[in-house]
Amino acid sequence: MKIGSQEHRDAFCRHFEQTYTEYDPHTLPWPDLDDAALQRLRAVPFWEEVFYTERRAGAIVAAFTETLTDPVLKSALALQGREETRHADLIRVMIDKYGLNAPERPLEDISTDIDTRFKDFGFGECLDSFLGFGLFKIAWQSEFLPQQIMQIFETLMYEETRHIVFFVNWMAYTEAQRGWLARTLLPLTSFRYYARAIRRMIGLAKRGKDLNDGKNFAATQVSMFLDGFNFRRFLEDCYSENSRRMGAFEPELLRPAFLPQLAEAALKALRLWNARSGLAPDSATSR
Ligand SMILES: [Fe+2]
Ligand SMILES: [Fe+2]
Repeated sequence: MKIGSQEHRDAFCRHFEQTYTEYDPHTLPWPDLDDAALQRLRAVPFWEEVFYTERRAGAIVAAFTETLTDPVLKSALALQGREETRHADLIRVMIDKYGLNAPERPLEDISTDIDTRFKDFGFGECLDSFLGFGLFKIAWQSEFLPQQIMQIFETLMYEETRHIVFFVNWMAYTEAQRGWLARTLLPLTSFRYYARAIRRMIGLAKRGKDLNDGKNFAATQVSMFLDGFNFRRFLEDCYSENSRRMGAFEPELLRPAFLPQLAEAALKALRLWNARSGLAPDSATSR
């Protein structure tokens, strides 16, 4: 299948629409939580940010969809917009049900340069999801949150994985349609957007640290979540979970490649470094 061909467009849009799951956030099997679980859920400092991000995502994708003329792309993007808005609804239902402290911040103005905004958003999702895969696995293993809640988040993770697979195919298709130069420069263009996404994430982490310093995420909660946290193991988890989740998609579709490749190179370097320093391989490498 030639990337940028009509066949490619039809394949990634069809796959996206066929893997859609129908559900209503209100009727998901939200569990009743005991006090300890409720406290842990309430201690998570980023619900407000997640809520805002999903609402913003819905607005950006919907606004970008309006600018499209190709009916096949338009229909698939409209579906993604509805899914993002449903993510926001899901988070809202959770906030209300469990009394989480996550006020609804007013959305920023997204009316200008929607094309760049959509691409920034798409590459940002690739970064968030890659790191999210690793965090999700740690959260799952540490049993930080009840299994029923994690199961609900699993639905969300799967949809985010669909979004990024759709996005990288859309990006490759769109650039190829613009001509050979844009097609040839795609790796560079992607690198530039990834660098922007990483800069934004660092800025957000800094602001979050200043805001939350010791306030919300009490030390005991952190230790439960991050007990034995090890950067290399986290990267291994991001990498292996990414491969596992991407395995569910049709082989002929493109997948986000930059971050897995970067992680792979970093892991190789870390192993080499440890071997040179004469450190015994830890469980992360012997797994
Ligand atoms: Fe989302
Ligand atoms: Fe998404």
